[in-house]
Amino acid sequence: MPQHFYIYGPPGSGKSTLGQALAGQLGLPFTDLDAAIEQAAGRPVRELFAAEGEPAFRVREAEQLRLAVASAPESVIALGGGALLDPASRTLAEQSGRILFLETPPAVLEARTGAQPGVRPLLTGRGHAARTPLAELLERRAAHYASFPLRLDAGHDRLEEKLAQAQIRLGAFRIRGMGRQETDVRVGAGLLDSLGRRLRAAGWTGASLVVADTNTADPYGQAAVDAIRQAGVAATLLTIPAGEVHKRLETLARLWQGCLEAGIDRGGTVVAVGGGVVGDLAGFAAATWMRGVRWIGVPTTLLAMVDSSLGGKTAIDLPAGKNLVGAFHPPALVLADTRTLQTLPVAERRCGLAEAVKHGVIADPGLLAAIEALPGNGAATCGDALVARAMAVKIAVIQQDPYEKGIRAALNLGHTLGHAVELASGFTLRHGEAVAIGLVAEARLAERLGLAAEPGLSDRLARLLARLGLPVEIPPGLDREALRRALLLDKKNEAGTIRFALPIRIGEIRTRVAVDPAVAIG
Ligand SMILES: NC(=O)c1ccc[n+]([C@@H]2O[C@H](COP(=O)([O-])OP(=O)(O)OC[C@H]3O[C@@H](n4cnc5c(N)ncnc54)[C@H](O)[C@@H]3O)[C@@H](O)[C@H]2O)c1
Ligand SMILES: [Zn+2]
Repeated sequence: MPQHFYIYGPPGSGKSTLGQALAGQLGLPFTDLDAAIEQAAGRPVRELFAAEGEPAFRVREAEQLRLAVASAPESVIALGGGALLDPASRTLAEQSGRILFLETPPAVLEARTGAQPGVRPLLTGRGHAARTPLAELLERRAAHYASFPLRLDAGHDRLEEKLAQAQIRLGAFRIRGMGRQETDVRVGAGLLDSLGRRLRAAGWTGASLVVADTNTADPYGQAAVDAIRQAGVAATLLTIPAGEVHKRLETLARLWQGCLEAGIDRGGTVVAVGGGVVGDLAGFAAATWMRGVRWIGVPTTLLAMVDSSLGGKTAIDLPAGKNLVGAFHPPALVLADTRTLQTLPVAERRCGLAEAVKHGVIADPGLLAAIEALPGNGAATCGDALVARAMAVKIAVIQQDPYEKGIRAALNLGHTLGHAVELASGFTLRHGEAVAIGLVAEARLAERLGLAAEPGLSDRLARLLARLGLPVEIPPGLDREALRRALLLDKKNEAGTIRFALPIRIGEIRTRVAVDPAVAIG
């Protein structure tokens, strides 16, 4: 089934402008339904409306909608202001994609449409009279317009902001700037089923190797293989043992062997179905096999969705330390199927929430507030909107600084102390748990150094993370000397000092702050 992104709303809500911008950003075909109708009929919409009346116009509109839906597997379609009044058209749109409704206050609509009297079919009056038909139209369609659950505040003129919000609502992004490889990102429940169709649509029909671990192979790895085969593309499943200890050379060698046996050539595709361990390993195998083949990430942990699948870093561990051997090799596609989170153990979900909290602190106060509003102790599944919102922060940072020359270092928030605690604990703490401890410790450090501009941030983070069921204090039994040594191993260190990314306030991180290890541990 095709996947389209529909932009809908009353006249003057800015559907065409936003639709066009969104299509450009995502690199997708764009249809402006009114323009398509005009082109097909050879007459302006206003004339058609006047000459034929509304019912005949709706027939033309429905026909053009069917043509647009069939013209591409995935596209952006800006609808006319009444296009989904027709029940069949509405069903078609709902079944073939997502509908984003642009919510705009009547006064703004009046101002926008009043500026061009006569252009829009249902607003044919002039001056003062033009207001009445719009108000009347809005009243008549109030229940209809209110019935679209996916909504965007479109009452302002900041197109960039609307574009950013639209991508989050629709769960669709394209990351540019990481070398020649652009990464398309899609977020939503059930997306795994679309994997094969997407391979075919992109022309990636060479043999594929699906890599999963013992926890994700059944059912997700197998579902990926089935979806790919259904699209007529060869697929082989390779299952590796689960766990960080297997993110090592021996497993990588098995993946290379798997590439060989599956017949992966330069046109082939490696598909990683699992958490960050599978992604890092399969991504690194793809980076090195035949000097680099395409790979697709299908993250199945919250942490992998909001963090590790984005950004292009791939790696394996050595006995001497984590991620010591790696490559920068962005995936061509990241398909975050949020349905997979239903089977994720609670402890793993909490780890992903720790990274999402980090993203809130870096750039999105609303995201932080949304996590604070989650009920209970981190056990509840968080919705698609929250996942996409947390992803959007990392995506925005990467876009600004693909090669980590500046602002991208902000993503290390909580990770300098976090990694050291993780290492010093002998990996008895999970990564996300160590990050929770690191976030609180680094906020306190910023406060001790007099850098913090927002009183109480460390307490706020500690309260939130603890309620989510995460540890927030460096374990008292942890060997301080081991922690100090671990800090000195950090990849960001320069000339013997440790470089921190520290929170000044929510939305502002200072990077490359040099701190003495003794001060850092406190
Ligand atoms: N490349 C990067 O930029 C980047 C960024 C952050 C973290 N990482 C790496 O990511 C790794 C951590 O990722 P992670 O937390 O996803 O760990 P993980 O891959 O080990 O997954 C955690 C556990 O959950 C299981 N699991 C995964 N999906 C499941 C599902 N849907 N249902 C049930 N069980 C499931 C896994 O088998 C595993 O036991 C680390 O190796 C870290 O270094 C990489
Ligand atoms: Zn992390």
